[in-house]
Parts: sequence; structure tokens; C-alpha cells
Amino acid sequence: MEAGDHHGAESSSFSSSKASGSSRPSTSLSSSSFTSALTLTQLGVSHVPQRYVLPPSQRPSASYSNLSTTALPILDISSLQNCFLRPHVINNIQTACKEIGFFQVINHGIPLSMMKEALNAANEFFNLPVEEKMLLGSDSVHAPIRYGTSINQAVDKVYFWRDFIKHYSHPISKWIHLWPSNPSTYKENMGNYAKAVQVLQQQIMELVIESLGLSPHYLHDEVENGSQVMAVNCYPKCPEPEVALGMPPHSDYGSITILLQSCPGLQIMDQNKNWISVPYIEGALLVQMGDQTEVMSNGRYKSVIHRVTVSDEMDRLSIASLHSLSLDKKIEPAPLLVDSENPKSYKEFSFRDFLDYITSNDIGNGRYIDTLKENP
Ligand code: OGA
Ligand code: NI
Repeated sequence: MEAGDHHGAESSSFSSSKASGSSRPSTSLSSSSFTSALTLTQLGVSHVPQRYVLPPSQRPSASYSNLSTTALPILDISSLQNCFLRPHVINNIQTACKEIGFFQVINHGIPLSMMKEALNAANEFFNLPVEEKMLLGSDSVHAPIRYGTSINQAVDKVYFWRDFIKHYSHPISKWIHLWPSNPSTYKENMGNYAKAVQVLQQQIMELVIESLGLSPHYLHDEVENGSQVMAVNCYPKCPEPEVALGMPPHSDYGSITILLQSCPGLQIMDQNKNWISVPYIEGALLVQMGDQTEVMSNGRYKSVIHRVTVSDEMDRLSIASLHSLSLDKKIEPAPLLVDSENPKSYKEFSFRDFLDYITSNDIGNGRYIDTLKENP
């Protein structure tokens, strides 16, 4: 989610970066005149304001030459409960996690209609007047519900072409009263999807844990009682998609993220540091390994670095369900995966430790997980 990567941006490179000669609208940062990416799109700006323009080396157009076309794994998980077929699924998960830290799942049991209703609820929320959405606005990454733009508008040096609403979601009875009451269908439609995804993440985490050679009971209760944050993202049409991004390269802090998207836009980085565009498959859900899995696996699985590109043709919506152990529960390398050949390579951390880090760090200061490595 919020952890930054690869943004060693110097302020000098920002001021020298000019995407085009014409003048750009300027945006104000003060909360009294909050301007989000969606507002700019609705205003019909023909250029992105300077604050969204990435230094040339970080623009998506800089990596057009090293876009990879490698096929990404697609796993049918309908046979999970079948004890003869389950080992095959676990094998495929192991390969996917080792090679890329990412896969798409199909036949996962969540109905297409439920996914569409969640996306519709998101769409209706973003289309509300700004004043209404601002009722949930917050600069604090610790807030259990937060509407905002970019990543963390309080500290971002360069802005990202994204509006979002994030809310804690599990257990749902503890948080749902904080969710938007407008649109009136939001709680029910997003809630149904959130509950279904929470069940799916338990099933997938069990497979991931087994694929590491650990007991399927390892961390069982911690995974079941973990934290779920829904990051509901809107990437409006962008007049200059070559110079801006919807989200910078980053890895997610949690164990896994399960992502629902309305159309393509997500790119993930492969082991050769080439970007791969994730194809859109109707009904599929995307699964990404996060930092907690990298730490728990003692580095056998790496969290996947990903970013979001934007389009000048269509708006994109996504719902990222970010799963982790509960806020204060520390994750550490599984003792079974530590021995003399594989020394403990990471310090333990909790979701709260991560939030404290990003409160005061710009996304350009590097990935949080790099601060945890014992022998970098
Ligand atoms: C995130 C994220 C990807 C997307 O919310 O952490 O990476 O496609 N989202 O919106
Ligand atoms: Ni992410």
C-alpha cells in the first residue's frame, strides 16, 4: 500500500522536469481548497498540474522499452477442498510466489454480481459532491476511515493521479458504522464483498503457508483475526498519462492483498526489473504477496513491487483488500524457516510500526521493508 519505492527523487529534478511548454494549472494543498485528481478531470484540465509531473526517469514512458510480455499465472482454485487436487494448487502457488509474488485466481467462489455491486458502490461514492466526501477527509494514516487523494497528501512531494477512500473492514461489526452512509447502498454492497474477501484470504493464506512447508495451522488464528483494510481507488481519466502515475512503485505492507479492478492499469515488476501489465480478466481476483509474507517466509517469497498507470481514455476503479496480522501483532520469520544456512534476515514488525514509518516519510524515501533487513 503506502510504502514507497524507487523514488529517489531530488527536488531539483522535479523543478527541471517539464512535460510540455504550456502553462499548468496550480493546485493548493491547504485543506480549505482540497483539489483531487477527480476534480481536475471533472474540470476538464488539458494538462496535469506541475505537482503531478514525475521526473523523466520515473515516468511510465521511461520504461516503455522494458515492458515484459511474460504470461502471468492464473490459478483455478475451485478444487481447494479436494484433497487429491489441493497439492497441485499448492505447487502452483509455490511457483508463482517464488517467481513473481503474484497470481490471479479464478473460480474463487465470489459471485461476479457481488464484485460488480461493490464497484458500483465505489463509483457512486466518488461521484458525490466534494463537500460530502470531505466529511471523511483526513491526513492521518492512522484514521480508521479516510478519504483523500494521491498517497498521503500531507507529505507527498509529487502527487499521484488517484482519489481513494480507505476503511478498516474486519471484523465488520466493529467498523461498518464508520463507512459512508451515502450512497445508501455502500455499506451493504461493499460489506458483502468485504466479508467474502476476508474468507477467501484465509483460504489463500493457508495455501501460501503450506506452500512454504509450514503446518497449515501456523498463524491460523492470527490470520483469521487479522486486519483488513479496504483501499477503494479511483483513477480518473488523465490528460497526460505519460508523465504521471496513479500509484508509484511500492509493495503492500500486509500478508496478501486481493485486488478487484474494473479495467487494466496495474503493472508489476518482475525479477529482471521489467514492468509487466496485468491483463484484465473478468471475474478474476489478483493476489499479491506483501511485506509481512516476505518477512514470515524469511525472504523465500518476496513482496511484489507494483504501480498503477493511468489512461486518457477511461476512468479506472479498483478495490484493494489489504490483509495483515492485527495492528499490534508483530510478524517475524517463521522459526522453521531459520537455520544456519538461512539466517534470520528480517527484524519483526507490526502494521502499526509500518503506519508510524509512513506518517513521517515521503514515498520517495524508500521501501519500509528495506529498513527491516538484517543483512542488507
Ligand atoms: C494499493 C494498490 C493497485 C490498484 O491500493 O496498494 O496497489 O490497481 N492498488 O489500484
Ligand atoms: Ni499496492
